[in-house]
Amino acid sequence: MMKHEDRNETIQQAAEEILTEEVLVEEQMIQVYELVPVRGAMDSDMEQIVDMTDQFSRTMDPVLRMYNAAMCAASARLEIIEDEFQYRRQRCPIHHIDTRLKSAKSILGKLEKKDLDLTLSAACNNIYDIAGIRVVCSYIKDVYLIRDRLLAQDDIYIMDIKDYIAEPKKNGYRSLHMIIRIPVYFMNKKQMVPVELQLRTMAMDLWASLEHDIKYKSLYQGVAADFTDELKECSRLIYEAEERLEVLNRLLEE
Ligand code: GTP
Ligand code: MG
Repeated sequence: MMKHEDRNETIQQAAEEILTEEVLVEEQMIQVYELVPVRGAMDSDMEQIVDMTDQFSRTMDPVLRMYNAAMCAASARLEIIEDEFQYRRQRCPIHHIDTRLKSAKSILGKLEKKDLDLTLSAACNNIYDIAGIRVVCSYIKDVYLIRDRLLAQDDIYIMDIKDYIAEPKKNGYRSLHMIIRIPVYFMNKKQMVPVELQLRTMAMDLWASLEHDIKYKSLYQGVAADFTDELKECSRLIYEAEERLEVLNRLLEE
């Protein structure tokens, strides 16, 4: 029989090995089999471009499955947080969660826009919003609570955080963006897969959704008017109202 201290030491050693492995994995690039020609090999022949898009979509399939798995894993972590609040009969910080997986076509479009090679490897190692999750919260403090709960999970690696709540974009956009890498386990390997998280309040979501819609429609319809100032003013009004509602909530919860 193994003595208690010996067993503890073995567990400790195993944990250290796992941690060392994890640090290495965090550095690891995503390796994929390339079946698609690089940008240089492509000419402007329309038929070839269509063919390439088809080929890219087909070879992208297993990769998209990997991103979908990562998106499900990250959503599950968020649902566990939600469930814990429900169990404790406390107000849940998450109002709702939306997920979306980028299509092969729009990945190809983004690679072209960023002037990158049209390869799976370039996609996996430069586009971090292939898997995207939007977490919509009631109050600003809930956004930071969710961020902190994710930061506390020691198998999640944080690649980037952009706080557009503390420092809103010039046009009035506010949200907290995080790029995380979450482990996905396959038959023969573990892969740390990037997922983009957008954490925002309902007020921020209202503005961002309508701004996106208005910007898209005005571009599509070729409207000459510039809505920039009006959108910025709406953003100011919405956040002023949000802050007043936050004060009411603080009076009730603190
Ligand atoms: P990407 O190459 O698009 O990932 O740009 P980036 O890495 O500079 O990311 P950024 O944090 O600026 O934005 C990523 C995502 O946030 C976008 O794809 C949108 O979904 C959202 N977003 C950022 N800015 C705006 C904005 O001004 N309005 C709206 N509606 N959404 C925005
Ligand atoms: Mg991005």
